[in-house]
Amino acid sequence: MTESAPLAVELRGITKRFPGVVANSDIQLRVHRGEVHAIVGENGAGKSTLMKTLYGMHRPDEGEILVDGRPVSFRSPADAIEAGIGMVHQHFMLADNFTVLENVVLGSEPTRGGRLDRAEARRRIREISDAYALGLDPDTLVEELGVGDRQRVEIAKVLYRGARTLILDEPTAVLVPQEVDELFGNLAELKREGLTVIFISHKLDEVRKVADSITVIRRGTTVGTADPATTTAKQLAELMVGAELPVAQKRDSTVRETAVLQLREVSVAAPGGRPAVDDVSLTVREGEVVGIAGVEGNGQAELVDAIMGLRPLSSGTVLLGADDITAWSTRHRREQGLGFIPEDRHRQGMLLEAPLWENRILGHQTRPPAVKGAFIDRKGARADTARIMREYDVRAPGPDTAAMALSGGNQQKLIVGREMSARPRLLIAAHPTRGVDVGAQSVIWELLKDARAEGMGIVLVSADLDELIGLSDTLHVMLRGRLVATLDPARLTPEELGTHMTGAASTAGAA
Ligand SMILES: Nc1ncnc2c1ncn2[C@@H]1O[C@H](COP(=O)(O)OP(=O)(O)OP(=O)(O)O)[C@@H](O)[C@H]1O
Ligand SMILES: [Mg+2]
Repeated sequence: MTESAPLAVELRGITKRFPGVVANSDIQLRVHRGEVHAIVGENGAGKSTLMKTLYGMHRPDEGEILVDGRPVSFRSPADAIEAGIGMVHQHFMLADNFTVLENVVLGSEPTRGGRLDRAEARRRIREISDAYALGLDPDTLVEELGVGDRQRVEIAKVLYRGARTLILDEPTAVLVPQEVDELFGNLAELKREGLTVIFISHKLDEVRKVADSITVIRRGTTVGTADPATTTAKQLAELMVGAELPVAQKRDSTVRETAVLQLREVSVAAPGGRPAVDDVSLTVREGEVVGIAGVEGNGQAELVDAIMGLRPLSSGTVLLGADDITAWSTRHRREQGLGFIPEDRHRQGMLLEAPLWENRILGHQTRPPAVKGAFIDRKGARADTARIMREYDVRAPGPDTAAMALSGGNQQKLIVGREMSARPRLLIAAHPTRGVDVGAQSVIWELLKDARAEGMGIVLVSADLDELIGLSDTLHVMLRGRLVATLDPARLTPEELGTHMTGAASTAGAA
């Protein structure tokens, strides 16, 4: 049906170079009007660069862009928006302390006598929200919204500007399965209204579920298109990387007696209302992976912050080994063997402007390879960064490259490498494989399993239910700040876990 539809977007021979890198090389892309078109490829393949070029953030070095059959030349996103192209980025760009309305209209305010016409803006947002079933209230503060809603605000923002083609860069990376289904419902509404969606994802099963057609990019160039109806996830993975699909599966139990982390009746207050973390007790032993499952916003982030000393407890105790670390600083905790793969690498894990070697020693400034005697050991840090880049397959020109020049998945691999290199006693892994491709995902899973076998304790917070079930020895479900169920991952399906996460199983699960 969409095959015969006219082309909404066509890219012909797009090449984009950065210093030392050819990000896109002779790319061909044909997107029909009214279809959901997926773009897949491994980390650093050039997907985001290509979309930023289509959105006017980059000028291509070579090639042609056609929108609705007409050649265009965008100097900025404003030009792209003018032509009906909108983009939701890999990392959301909303202002937390503003309302949905303010965020949506920011930059394109309808004015009456030079002032924001709130009534008109509110009316149009309601209209958009209704038309595409986004379920948004214009007057909610964005900081009160969960990830799924924030994403719908971003989508509303793009629609508000009149986009007919929406680019979504890894929209599902941050969503749990129920939210993914909601998003796909939204995409179906968009399609029904004749809009076109281009979306990027590393989750090949969902790509097959939602896409009408698929373009595969490898090492900067298009290697082909695939029909989701007849292509398996395995075949897609092979097209992308020539690798097998990873399976998260642990070997025999490695859980030992000694507890490395104990939380005793830990609570964390939230501004107004009930606590963000409510009376949580748990133990992590050496060689044990303790998974925390939950829909985003049920206190997992606050719990992680509390363990890392980034947020004060309102009551309770945290023990690392035999030490009561409740009053310790984050730095002290890290020095004593707490490792941390943060949920939001841009806010907590990286300095985007800084070179990779500085990011290598970030949070580890008091130990080799960061220091030699009283001095920063630049040479040692660079050499060790190069080692991590080799071992973790971080694709970038070298240790002096700025972190922001890396693709999202490659940034993530660097952080994982950094934290694993410190050989922590206890690792807090918040979404450790978020945004990494299937090849890198299996590498990270193997590394976590090896570390577990050597006795590392791991707290795993993830939205990926296969990852949680496959890696955890013990699995807790967090709902409204409390641990509401403890499940045996060996006898659990993703569907059952999903039921517990939404609280639908709370009565049945009480036993
Ligand atoms: N601003 C930049 N300066 C220099 N190099 C860049 C810049 N942006 C991207 N690159 C490089 O271009 C290549 C493609 O990166 P891109 O972000 O497009 O990959 P991607 O396919 O989106 O990967 P991921 O799945 O990890 O998000 C990478 O080698 C990256 O390091
Ligand atoms: Mg990307």
